[in-house]
Amino acid sequence: MTPSPQLNLAIRAAREAGTIALQQFDRHAHLKIEEKGRSDLVSEADQMVEKEILFHLRKGYPQWDVVAEESRPRRRQRSEWCWVVDPIDGTTNFIHGIPHFAISIALMREQEVMAGVVYHPVSGELFMAERGAGAFLNDHRIRISKTERLQQALICTGFPVRHAPYLPPYLTLFNQLLPLCHDMRRSGSAALDLAYTAAGRFDGFWEVGLAPWDMAAGVLLLREAGGIVSDLNGRNSFIHSGHIVAANPVIHEQLVAHTQAWGSNQSSS
Ligand code: IPD
Ligand code: CA
Ligand code: CA
Repeated sequence: MTPSPQLNLAIRAAREAGTIALQQFDRHAHLKIEEKGRSDLVSEADQMVEKEILFHLRKGYPQWDVVAEESRPRRRQRSEWCWVVDPIDGTTNFIHGIPHFAISIALMREQEVMAGVVYHPVSGELFMAERGAGAFLNDHRIRISKTERLQQALICTGFPVRHAPYLPPYLTLFNQLLPLCHDMRRSGSAALDLAYTAAGRFDGFWEVGLAPWDMAAGVLLLREAGGIVSDLNGRNSFIHSGHIVAANPVIHEQLVAHTQAWGSNQSSS
């Protein structure tokens, strides 16, 4: 794939910011940390990495909107084009010295994700996709897994620790699904979960209560790798609800058969 100028800019921003993330990761035990909400931390590293990313994106396209996790306002302003940025997806891992975190940058045109980058600076793995052009890990095309039976599927998820009302229905679903799958993982970075699912490492991913910056780039990777993404009811409202199921078409159908009850007996849809 020959990346567009926009995707090239996102790649450059992710790599430059990745260098800062690695420097800060080396001193993770000394970082200043604040609590934004329940189980929701921000460190000075998140802010430094975001600053670097926004510097590059705004220099390249000063007229475009940016929605970034650690900056206000978080809503789109006026432009039809909008960057959606998570400077460090996996902050809890980062702060604990666990090298599983990523930089996620997506470019949206209105409601459509046009380009996306998920960069894991520790390994140098850079996942990228452009609408209609496929998904890639560094130079190699990636594709969703071919697993067809839930029993053989390694499924990834995230715990909704920040959303107390979601916990009981989530755990009910978890209880239902775990015995039906090969196994389940909780990695701590939704952006990498989606990228790994796009690359066929996980056979599926589901989580509730995500933010757009956790998902935007990963969703494009997933789709361009041949996967299906929906909310837990199988509909298309996941960017608004934050509830997501992603997998190849066969596993997706099997997962949604269980998750579709979500929201029917609680106010969480
Ligand atoms: C979090 C991670 C985690 C997911 C949380 C996200 P952050 O993002 O993606 O895997 O379970 O819901 O908020 O806070 O590390 O950027
Ligand atoms: Ca995140
Ligand atoms: Ca983050």
